[in-house]
Amino acid sequence: TLPAVYRSTVLHFLRDPGADDDPDAWELFEDGALAVGADGRVRWAGDWSALPEQHRGEVVDHRGKLIVPGFVDTHIHYSQYDMIASFGAQLQDWLQEYVFPTERKFADPDYADRTAGLFLDTLLACGTTTASVYPTVHPASVDAFFAQAHRRGMRMTCGKVLMDKQPDAPDFLSDAGVPQAEERTRQLIARWHRKDRLTYAITPRFAPSSSDEQLAMAGRLLHEFPDVTLQTHAAESRPETASVLARFTDARSYLDVYDQVGMLGPRSIFAHCVHIDDQDRSRLATTGAAIAFCPTSNLFLGSGLFDLAAARDAGVRVGLGTDCGAGTSYSMLRTLNEAYKVVMLKELTKPPHRRTTLSALRGFYLATLGGAEALHLDNHIGNFRPGKEADFIVLNWTATPTLAHRTALARTFQERLFAQMILGDDRSIAATYLMGRRVP
Ligand code: GUN
Ligand code: FE
Repeated sequence: TLPAVYRSTVLHFLRDPGADDDPDAWELFEDGALAVGADGRVRWAGDWSALPEQHRGEVVDHRGKLIVPGFVDTHIHYSQYDMIASFGAQLQDWLQEYVFPTERKFADPDYADRTAGLFLDTLLACGTTTASVYPTVHPASVDAFFAQAHRRGMRMTCGKVLMDKQPDAPDFLSDAGVPQAEERTRQLIARWHRKDRLTYAITPRFAPSSSDEQLAMAGRLLHEFPDVTLQTHAAESRPETASVLARFTDARSYLDVYDQVGMLGPRSIFAHCVHIDDQDRSRLATTGAAIAFCPTSNLFLGSGLFDLAAARDAGVRVGLGTDCGAGTSYSMLRTLNEAYKVVMLKELTKPPHRRTTLSALRGFYLATLGGAEALHLDNHIGNFRPGKEADFIVLNWTATPTLAHRTALARTFQERLFAQMILGDDRSIAATYLMGRRVP
C-alpha cells in the first residue's frame, strides 16, 4: 500500500457526544480528507483545503459520499449463521430448539471453516470491520474463525464458549470438566491472542449454562491475563433472569452472580442487560464494565426494551450489537434504526420532561468509537486520530430511491445522517477498507 488521501465528507468521534450532541465530541469535514500511510494507519483527517504537504499521497475521490470509521459490532454469534430468522420462540426455547442443534454442527472443522468465511464476508459487506464474536464450545470453531479473520486482516475478538451445566448446556455441547475447559482456553489464548489484529475473549455463555466452578474459572482467567477481554450474556429475558435468581440464592441480582466471581471490570462486556436495576448500573459504571445493546435481538425474542438513557446517566459504557442469529440483520445501520425505536418506546415509560431520543450523531458514535471503547480496542480503532488503524467505510447517500429522496430534502447534516440511520442498510456501503486496503 502507498500513502493515499481519501477525499470525501469525513465524520468521526473523539468521545461520546451525549444526549445533546456535544459539538466538541465529533468532527465533521464536509469537503474532507483522510490521509492514510503505507503502514495502513491514519496520518491525518481534516479539511481538504488544509491537508498538510507531508501527508499528500495518491488521491482517491469519494466526493459526494461519507467516510466514517468501520462499524464495530460488540456482540454476535458466527455459530448461528444458519439459523437466523428461526420462528416462534422466546430465548430459552429458541436456544434448545434452534441454537443448540445448529451449534452442534461445529464439531466438524470444515463446516466451521466454511461458515466463518461466509460470516466474515457478510460483515464486510455490511461495513462491519470489527466484532466481538461467539463461536461454539468446540476449540476448532475458534481456530476456524481466527484463521479466516487473519486471512482477511480483520481486527476481531473471539473465544471458546464455556458451557458445562445441563440442561442449559446440552450434553453434546458440554465441556468435560473445568480443568479441560481451562486447558483448552489457555491453549487458544496462547495460539491466537494478539496474533496481529486478533484478541481473545473469555466467553462463558451465560450463568445458567455454567457450573459455579466454571464461572469462577472464567473470573480467575480474566485476572490472570491482563489484556484479554470477557464476554457473556446477562439479564436478557425475564424467565432467564428469574431462573438465575432461583439458582444463585445468595446473589442480589443476575449481574451480582458475575460480580461475585470477579467478572466485572474494564475488560468485560455483558450483552443485553435489559432486566437490571440502578445498583447493577452503578456496579457496571464503577468497575468500568460495558453493555452490548442488541435492539433487533431483544425485539425478535420478545426479551424487552433496554434502557439506554439509564445506562448513560449512570455512566456505563455501551456499545451496539446485532446479536445475530437472535438479531435480525447484520447491518449496523438497520440495528441503529431499531435502537432508535427501542429508545422511543422505553422513554414513554418516563415522565415527559425526562424523555430523550437517540440522535443520529450519538447513534453513529455507538456504532463506531463507542463500540471500540466497549471492547477495549479504542487504542487501535474507532476514530481517525493519527496512528489509529485505518479501517473505514464509504457510505452512499443515494443507495436507494427513498434514501436519495429524503437526503435531497434534508436541510442539515444531522438530518441527512438521521436518514442514513433510519433508511440505510448494506446497500449504503459503497466501500469497506481494512488498514487502508479496499476489500471486495
Ligand atoms: N443466552 C445464552 N446464549 C445465548 C445466545 O446464543 N443468544 C442469545 N440471544 N442469548 C443467549
Ligand atoms: Fe447473544
